[in-house]
Amino acid sequence: MSSPEVDFALFFLFPSSPFLSPILALFIVVLSVLWFHPGGLAWALSRVGRSIPGPPGIVLALSGTAAHRALAWLARSFQALPLMAFSVGFTRFVVSSHPNTAREILNSSAFADRPIKESAYELLFHRAMGFAPFGEYWRNLRRISTTYLFSPRRISASGKHRRAIGEQMVDEVKGLMGRYGEVEVKRVLHFGSLNNVMMSVFGKRFEFGKGEGEELEGLVREGYELLGVFNWSDHIPVLGWLDLQGVRKRCRRLVGRVNVFVGKVIEEHRQKRRNFGGSLEDGVGDFVDVLLDLEEEKLSDVDMVAVLWEMIFRGTDTVAILLEWIMARMVLHPDIQSKAQSEIDAVVGNSRLVSDFDIPMLPYLQSIVKESLRMHPPGPLLSWARLAIHDVNVGNHFVPAGTTAMVNMWAITHDESIWPEPGEFKPERFMAEGVSILGSDLRLAPFGSGRRVCPGKAMALATVHLWLARLLQCFKWVPSEGGVDLSECLRMSLEMKNPLVCKALPRC
Ligand code: HEM
Repeated sequence: MSSPEVDFALFFLFPSSPFLSPILALFIVVLSVLWFHPGGLAWALSRVGRSIPGPPGIVLALSGTAAHRALAWLARSFQALPLMAFSVGFTRFVVSSHPNTAREILNSSAFADRPIKESAYELLFHRAMGFAPFGEYWRNLRRISTTYLFSPRRISASGKHRRAIGEQMVDEVKGLMGRYGEVEVKRVLHFGSLNNVMMSVFGKRFEFGKGEGEELEGLVREGYELLGVFNWSDHIPVLGWLDLQGVRKRCRRLVGRVNVFVGKVIEEHRQKRRNFGGSLEDGVGDFVDVLLDLEEEKLSDVDMVAVLWEMIFRGTDTVAILLEWIMARMVLHPDIQSKAQSEIDAVVGNSRLVSDFDIPMLPYLQSIVKESLRMHPPGPLLSWARLAIHDVNVGNHFVPAGTTAMVNMWAITHDESIWPEPGEFKPERFMAEGVSILGSDLRLAPFGSGRRVCPGKAMALATVHLWLARLLQCFKWVPSEGGVDLSECLRMSLEMKNPLVCKALPRC
């Protein structure tokens, strides 16, 4: 460039006059227009004509531990309960805080995909059911697990393991009370829950705090943490290769360890089958056996590890977290606890242990579980979002392909126009009105809805009902010195910020 041209260019960028250079000024104007567009930066860059209401700029709430509350507040402030647009970096989001639009999103085939985070990809979860793209591979996994892992027959057959693990938990509570005079409930529940899923999936139980059991707990904990981390690289592509938060590095290290651990379990099954001479009789094996028996849709070893690992991972914490919230409520509301115990005593008595068959006769206990799911949904934003596969309308808003869609189930279950006195814990509300929580009634759909509804919901509910009944039958739960702190912390799931520590006084 000749020198007058350079001077000209420099004048535009860095003028010697006190006024802004035209290019800099233009840049600032364009950025402000983009920034203050309803829904923020990512929406401004999209080709949407009529805008969806929402906050300008970039929303940081998703990186915090109360995203469900912040989004609920924003949706109210922008009068955008049916649908609110917002941006996180360059990612376009919509969030529904109303049952009607929630139904539209969750039940529409346009939202049958999930956005895949870097951590999920690195942990190979795109080969497991939860993050697999909507298509043939996902459909096969869904069919296989619905038929073999989550069928009513399977769930009923695994009742004896649930009972045995429930007994172990009761013994553990007694032991802890004897030693310390109080119980950190989540530790007992986590141990039980992990073993329960291990039995269904791997067909084996581990001793926790020791050897393989300890290693497995560590793997699950690390995976949970990694999937829960808000990773800026997911939303600002340029940060991708820097891996500033170290997520990629940790994921790769974890995947190596998971491959060895789960690979060993698969090999043990292969060996058992060789000794047994071919495939196992129907109904004898666990989920590893089922996957090894597949003929047409045979999975590679890598895919099998991903599928098995996801089940363990998904099935463990959700159940333990929900039960911890329920027990916290039982400690806080002695009147409700004793009403549930009277119901159990009337139906079961105290000469035998409560079993799966008693649960249908315990409507008050079931209402306690529903009310806890309403007040403390483990996935308040339904955990895993959906992705618009193609352009679609939600309500009267146009949502372009590639938009991430969320449902704020917490906002819906705390909306006083839907649930009177939403801040009060009142199981009685479900005695008066039978509300299905399995996905057909979007006023309370803690397991999601539609094609990608949680496939483990029946197994989760069978476990939660039985263990809750058992823990209430055996103990009266009272607060310890520290009381009960209901503060929340949203990671992968909505957890209690301070673990529940209380006393369990024997009843039987
Ligand atoms: C209290 C317990 C549980 C809760 C609250 C829960 C909640 C959820 C939610 C909200 C979703 C997303 C649904 C949607 O997008 O519409 C989901 C998906 C899923 N859940 Fe659960 N879940 C629980 C227990 C379990 C268990 C025990 C398992 C398995 C052992 C499991 C396996 C899965 C899988 C594989 C998916 C992904 C399904 C797909 O994308 O096709 N969950 N769960």
